[in-house]
Amino acid sequence: MRTVGSVTTVPFDDATVRSARRLFDGAERVLVLTGAGVSAESGVPTFRGAGGLWREYRAEELATPEAFARDPRLVWEWYGWRREVVRRCEPNAAHLALAAFAAGRAGVEIVTQNVDGLHARAAHATAAEAAGRRGGRTPGGARRALPIELHGSLFRARCTGCGRTFEHDEPVDARSRERLPACARCGALLRPAVVWFGESLDPALLGAAFDAAARADVCLVVGTSAVVQPAASIATAAHASGARIVEVNPEPTPLTPIATVSLRAAAASAVPAIVGQHENPSP
Ligand code: APR
Repeated sequence: MRTVGSVTTVPFDDATVRSARRLFDGAERVLVLTGAGVSAESGVPTFRGAGGLWREYRAEELATPEAFARDPRLVWEWYGWRREVVRRCEPNAAHLALAAFAAGRAGVEIVTQNVDGLHARAAHATAAEAAGRRGGRTPGGARRALPIELHGSLFRARCTGCGRTFEHDEPVDARSRERLPACARCGALLRPAVVWFGESLDPALLGAAFDAAARADVCLVVGTSAVVQPAASIATAAHASGARIVEVNPEPTPLTPIATVSLRAAAASAVPAIVGQHENPSP
């Protein structure tokens, strides 16, 4: 265990697990903020790490309104490929542990920057498993496991004409502009319902995330480089309101200096250890 300043940056060991778990045991409200790293062990590429998407593609050529206006076919081709990649992935032990944690007790809010839908799939899997145990009735807690998806979802589309947003999961034929997905209601081109560089986040989602930050006793930050705003400020807002920060990341980040515990670990092993079996009877 190494203490640098006030931060205990530790390898992932039993003592660390116990100290992190004690923070969650004593917390009435827990905010969980995740980034691409929570899905890395599911096989979903991160953005900035080794093999990350932004190492292979230029963000401004694919994930901006200007790129879409310039070449919607190329942008849909990339998002269609990302959908195919994610379709072949499953929620990992970190997603499932977080879903069980949120469903099993009151006061947990999951906020994610990810658009891969894996937290939602973990929430549905947890609900189905709980319903199986309870003879088919889905417990209310399962809804708590659904995340706030700050940056939208690969599996939703928005109409560039009438603005309607809806689930959209069919394969995209990007061979020509004419074949791109169009709105059944107004005929305008559809776009991926994700937040692009230079776009604002949904103020209602952002407000809910910062409200959760203001109330949190503990903020668990998993798998984010904490360099993209405003998402990165959610953890610092929680800290400013008195929350203890627990970070899970193989690398240090700008949040490490304010973390009470910063685990140099991968999410799929560390997260189940520190939030697993916390379930208490949900009210
Ligand atoms: N477990 C935990 N963390 C991991 C793992 C793992 N197995 N593998 C990698 N990481 C960490 C990396 O060390 C890095 O700090 O996950 C982080 C991923 O950082 P980014 O690739 O920058 O992803 P993220 O922080 O989610 O990016 C934020 O930027 O490009 C935009 O909209 C995009 O939502 C994204 C936002």
